[in-house]
Amino acid sequence: MAFATVKVLTTHQWNAGLFSFSVSRPASFRFVSGQFVMLGLMINGKPLVRAYSIVSATWDDRLEFLSIIVPDGPLTSQLYKITPGDEILLGSKPTGTLTLDALLPGKRLHLIGTGTGLAPWMSIIRDPDVYERFEQITVQHTVRLIEDLAYRDMLESRMMNDPLIADEAKQKLVYDQSVTKCPTWIHENRRITTRIESGDYPLDPQTDRVMLCGSMGMIKETGALLENLGFVEGAHSHPGTYVLERAFVG
Ligand SMILES: Cc1cc2nc3c(=O)[nH]c(=O)nc-3n(C[C@H](O)[C@H](O)[C@H](O)COP(=O)(O)OP(=O)(O)OC[C@H]3O[C@@H](n4cnc5c(N)ncnc54)[C@H](O)[C@@H]3O)c2cc1C
Ligand SMILES: NC(=O)c1ccc[n+]([C@@H]2O[C@H](COP(=O)([O-])OP(=O)(O)OC[C@H]3O[C@@H](n4cnc5c(N)ncnc54)[C@H](OP(=O)(O)O)[C@@H]3O)[C@@H](O)[C@H]2O)c1
Repeated sequence: MAFATVKVLTTHQWNAGLFSFSVSRPASFRFVSGQFVMLGLMINGKPLVRAYSIVSATWDDRLEFLSIIVPDGPLTSQLYKITPGDEILLGSKPTGTLTLDALLPGKRLHLIGTGTGLAPWMSIIRDPDVYERFEQITVQHTVRLIEDLAYRDMLESRMMNDPLIADEAKQKLVYDQSVTKCPTWIHENRRITTRIESGDYPLDPQTDRVMLCGSMGMIKETGALLENLGFVEGAHSHPGTYVLERAFVG
């Protein structure tokens, strides 16, 4: 696969295990909201790359990513050290199933993610197209700790600083957080699977459309719950009522 060398522009540390960064966007780099791309570093003279969902909007001239730091992870144990001016490798062919064209028309869109599975939603909710297609768009983010709620301020302010979509986001965007491992969190603290199973997060295949991104366990269990409710998995070639992407193993 071909890789471009791009410059790191900004970095932001959310907590000890989570950071985001932006890089310059090659003029030829095109993507659809919700896609991922391979990126990485030259390590011991060899390219070491991993899949990363694109956080930024399709029209942005920078590309932003949200990354876990796995202490013994071959890539992220090095990647977290990048600073502005450094160079990273960026693949040329974004791809992925989490795109709006893989879904049938519906009323409400649920973007359900755990951990860094939030990343593709940040791009989708900055796409004006999503507000044309749906009456309501919910970002459902489940994390262990409050400090894992990356982009919380932007989401709580419903993208107020984003002139292209601010008015529509104010009307249509809902931010739903679950924090599962924090005793002082007085709001929702249950896994999305528990909430769907109990009927407290109602989903109807006639009107709701769902995108899933996160750990293998969450995807598998939530996918099974959706199938039981009558949802059908979609893809570009055959749009359905839900789509998923395994963002990491574990
Ligand atoms: C389609 C796709 C999209 C992805 N998008 C992102 C993204 O936007 N941001 C991101 O940080 N990672 C993302 N990943 C995971 C990413 O590709 C790497 O696994 C991650 O960067 C860690 O790389 P590593 O070499 O340090 O460790 P790896 O050897 O790749 O992973 C080691 C272990 O760490 C755990 N792990 C890896 N990634 C994560 C994660 N994101 N969250 C929680 N646990 C994890 C898993 O248990 C894994 O087995 C994505 C993966 C896929 C397949
Ligand atoms: N030791 C630590 O303190 C610590 C802290 C953070 C991360 N980590 C490690 O770092 C890695 C990534 O952690 P992460 O927090 O980004 O991702 P994660 O382990 O997938 O957890 C993210 C969120 O997803 C929920 N979840 C996990 N499995 C689920 C399932 N099958 N169905 C529904 N919801 C599910 C978790 O709830 P639950 O809380 O109920 O599991 C948590 O709220 C993991 O390997 C983890 O072991 C360790």
